[in-house]
Amino acid sequence: MTVSIRNLSVDYRSSGGTAHALRDISFDIGKSEMLGLVGESGSGKSTVAFALMGLLANNARVVSGQADIAGHTYDLTKTNATAGLRGRTLAMIFQDPMLSLNPVFTIGAHLLEVLRRIMPDADGKTRLAAAEDALAKVKLSDPGRRLGQYPHELSGGMRQRVVIAMALLVKPALLIADEPTTALDVTVESQIMREIVDLRDRLECSVLLITHSLGVVTEYCDRIAVLYAGERLESGSVGDVRKSVGHPYTRMLLDCEVPLERTRSPRVSENRFTVIGGDLPDPRHRPEGCIFKDRCDVAFAECRTVVPPDFAVSGGADHQARCLRLRVS
Ligand SMILES: Nc1ncnc2c1ncn2[C@@H]1O[C@H](COP(=O)(O)OP(=O)(O)OP(=O)(O)O)[C@@H](O)[C@H]1O
Ligand SMILES: [Mg+2]
Repeated sequence: MTVSIRNLSVDYRSSGGTAHALRDISFDIGKSEMLGLVGESGSGKSTVAFALMGLLANNARVVSGQADIAGHTYDLTKTNATAGLRGRTLAMIFQDPMLSLNPVFTIGAHLLEVLRRIMPDADGKTRLAAAEDALAKVKLSDPGRRLGQYPHELSGGMRQRVVIAMALLVKPALLIADEPTTALDVTVESQIMREIVDLRDRLECSVLLITHSLGVVTEYCDRIAVLYAGERLESGSVGDVRKSVGHPYTRMLLDCEVPLERTRSPRVSENRFTVIGGDLPDPRHRPEGCIFKDRCDVAFAECRTVVPPDFAVSGGADHQARCLRLRVS
């Protein structure tokens, strides 16, 4: 079942004015596919995740947007449109696993809470065995003992495995992972990414992976969507985009791609894409024309006034980019 997000636009209101954090974002994720959503800090990646989960801040407003998930259509402009899906059809892994875990409950209590709901008729012993099995599946060492431990007794990587184990039990149609490895140790990143890939393969679900790292996207994702200042500038299969890049911004991201082992360090995460000169435009006042023109080294006169629509890049609707240079004249 394909997950399909259409025309998602989100505003944040504040005393300084209304910031347009997302403008008309659309993307699809096939069954058993992982889509990497990339973009520099402030481009709107987490806003996409929170809008889908129905977890936006109080000052946010979904101006438009529709989500097709597991055969149902949800109007994201309606408050709590997807609230009933959380922890069921939709699961989320945050950068900080403690956002998903309650410090006063043991690991076992977390898993059993999920199991009580999905195995209402099973006895306690069966549920306990299922909890231990879930921890073993995400390769947490000594799963029996872990059940009695509290989140603070585990390392960050182990906690993230617990969150993945909970998602395994929930069996979501869509798993959203917002920078799931940024806060973790260098060596743990690839292990956690492997567990997410494993979960995707076991459940045949769709995964929306939010990351700063193009290296991670290349290694683990099937598709990529590139966000810039709240607009989706390019999307396509990772292979197509790498082979024939459609947008100058994606080109710049690829050119300044830091080696994977460096991107794994949390210390460089803040500055990963700042090698590109200039700043993101003010989200309160969208400049005329192409959103990227001020930082683009191949912009021409028309880019100042014309907002580029999506153009097909690799010949099909599957690979698109918003750049006037792709116009067939
Ligand atoms: N509650 C809020 N009120 C006002 N503006 C907000 C709020 N939350 C986010 N924003 C703004 O919306 C834009 C997108 O933010 P978002 O957190 O989605 O970006 P991001 O791509 O996830 O960034 P990062 O990589 O740093 O996590 C930014 O300009 C941000 O400052
Ligand atoms: Mg974010």
